[in-house]
Amino acid sequence: MTEQVIKIEDLKGYYRGSFGVVHAVDGVSLSVNKGDIMGIAGESGCGKTSLAELITGRPIQLLHHEGGQVYINDLSIYEVDEEVIRKEILCKVLGYVPQASLNSLNPVKRIRAFILDAMRERVGTKAKNKQKVLDRVVEHFKKLGLEESVIDKYPHELSGGMKQRVVVGISSLWNPLILLVDEPTSALDVTTQQLLIETLMHLKKTGIVETILFISHDIPTLAQICSVCIIMYAGKIVEQASMDDIINNPQHPYTKMLINSIACFNPDGSAETRLEGIPGRPPDLKNPPKGCRFYPRCPSRLEKCKENYPPFFTSRTNSNPVACWLHEEVSH
Ligand SMILES: Nc1ncnc2c1ncn2[C@@H]1O[C@H](COP(=O)(O)OP(=O)(O)OP(=O)(O)O)[C@@H](O)[C@H]1O
Ligand SMILES: [Mg+2]
Repeated sequence: MTEQVIKIEDLKGYYRGSFGVVHAVDGVSLSVNKGDIMGIAGESGCGKTSLAELITGRPIQLLHHEGGQVYINDLSIYEVDEEVIRKEILCKVLGYVPQASLNSLNPVKRIRAFILDAMRERVGTKAKNKQKVLDRVVEHFKKLGLEESVIDKYPHELSGGMKQRVVVGISSLWNPLILLVDEPTSALDVTTQQLLIETLMHLKKTGIVETILFISHDIPTLAQICSVCIIMYAGKIVEQASMDDIINNPQHPYTKMLINSIACFNPDGSAETRLEGIPGRPPDLKNPPKGCRFYPRCPSRLEKCKENYPPFFTSRTNSNPVACWLHEEVSH
């Protein structure tokens, strides 16, 4: 039987500041099964990072939980104490590698000091406990191909790829049930990106982490590792399917255009497909439109799309949920 490790119901979150209110996540529901590697894709600004932050139960400053539930292993994350989230959930249950985490390492601290600092609450002040944790770190880092000496280095002494693996290593130190990684490869060159993907696969293969949520706007990267994928647009999920279906049988017009905008090159360097970009821009999330948010950019739009937001439809031939009115007629 499949076991759900994350269940999200109608999750909403907004940023509030001098700029106004931005509805970054607007009614997201999804579930992640144990063992899944789920990709979360979509253009810049569609709400991927905001969703990740809301999943942690402790979103970054300015981002507020507006409504909806996040269950991690049946625990309702917005109903447990802040302390439980900090001490228990955010390391043992949910490891989180935030976007731009390469920069999260403290430039004036050696990796060992940074780790002890980050784990102050768990480790306490006793030298014996600190040593125990550092021994575990060294052991764990070795599994990720990092040498023991790494913990004595400053971040500037490490390459981008090593820094990234250090961050992934710290986030997976306590063998969390789920690892949530946000754009882990976007600042890396292709070879280093590949190493990181291999590191994540290794974590999964060796059972250190069973379930991974992998956020990236880069679908070819997701395709290398993910089993399932959700596509977000303007704060909402528009399609959820197996990774294979997203690539080979996309249903939502937005997903189709995203896939068509991926460059494929022949060995001689010529492009295999003509790239079709997605004309226009996503809507302003300060004032999202009433109807389908992709309406102004959609080549297949219907009149009703303008005023009515589509529910999820599934068809006889395709059981993947798609939020698009085009699928209404063919749905059960
Ligand atoms: N700190 C912030 N203050 C105000 N608005 C924000 C803030 N961070 C993000 N937003 C807005 O929230 C929306 C969702 O942003 P988010 O960063 O979640 O998107 P994303 O999909 O992660 O993008 P990217 O691929 O560029 O990382 C966007 O409209 C963005 O402008
Ligand atoms: Mg982001």
